[in-house]
Amino acid sequence: MSKATAKAYSNIALVKYWGKGDEQLRLPVNSSIAIGLDSIYTVTTVEFAEKYQEDQVEIDGEVFNDDEKSRVSQHLDIIRTQARMSFPAKVVTKNNFPKAVGAASSASGFAALTVAAAEAAGLTLSTKELSMIARQGSGSATRSVTGGMSIWHQGGSNETSFAEKIEYPAEWDLAVLLVFIGQPKAKKMSSTKGMELASTSPYFTRAVEEAEKNIERIQQALKAKDWTAFGKVIEDECYRLHTLCMTSTPNILYWEGTTIDIFQMLLQLRRSGVDAFFTVDAGPHVHIVCHRQDIPKIQTALSTLKNIHQVIECGIAGPAQVIHESLF
Ligand code: PMV
Repeated sequence: MSKATAKAYSNIALVKYWGKGDEQLRLPVNSSIAIGLDSIYTVTTVEFAEKYQEDQVEIDGEVFNDDEKSRVSQHLDIIRTQARMSFPAKVVTKNNFPKAVGAASSASGFAALTVAAAEAAGLTLSTKELSMIARQGSGSATRSVTGGMSIWHQGGSNETSFAEKIEYPAEWDLAVLLVFIGQPKAKKMSSTKGMELASTSPYFTRAVEEAEKNIERIQQALKAKDWTAFGKVIEDECYRLHTLCMTSTPNILYWEGTTIDIFQMLLQLRRSGVDAFFTVDAGPHVHIVCHRQDIPKIQTALSTLKNIHQVIECGIAGPAQVIHESLF
């Protein structure tokens, strides 16, 4: 097989990855935990063939220039090396959500690329091995390979830094509302650039220690089926990441006014008995983690706010998978 297609879902971190210990291997400074989102995904077809003079990359109808495609080519090189082959590749990708708005298109993107390229190259790899490769394209992609609720173990080497699924209480009937603020537009600073600045924050060392404690706390909350404790970690982690951003040099402010309006709205709802929790990645958009049964009440409250562009309801996604369709 020299051509294959894969589908991978986006994920939202509950315990955040923000800072690398090893840039080349993309080893993180702490472990992280995320849930996959079944409504937002990437489909990628990869074909390796001698007929292509060089790698060609097309994303959402846009053909990438040499600069833009170099990160994809480097990623394909990992697969080519493992498969002991050197054919150029044609890569066609489609996202069903706006890229570069802070909705983690790189997570689903590099997970789909890894799974499709490995299959097209004829490699038979375990989920762990695929997650190790995806990590080298984009850290958060390691957790989109596994899907569900996953932990990405920090590890200290290529082989020990990978994702695996963890259990969560099925009776929580978890759902996530992804709230896009204003007109989705390219974000101000990519997560790759933003996290390079993390260590300039005076709070960096302490923040990394706290992330590891939050990994423990959230796992205890899951085990004890303690929804309130689970939500406390999610919101602490949102503030932890953005404290690092706001106190970096240069300072990074991803939030907009509406981001905070949504936080306030959720705190208000909580006082009326609807327990839903907010988190924000490297952009202004808000992910609301809730029980599915509470979605109508949250949607009604959101409809009273200004400047909300779109609300996408998500369940928990499965792992990245080879699919039997082709984009070309
Ligand atoms: O995988 P990257 O380089 O897009 O970084 C993702 C960083 C955050 O989304 C902000 C946090 C996370 O853990 O996903």
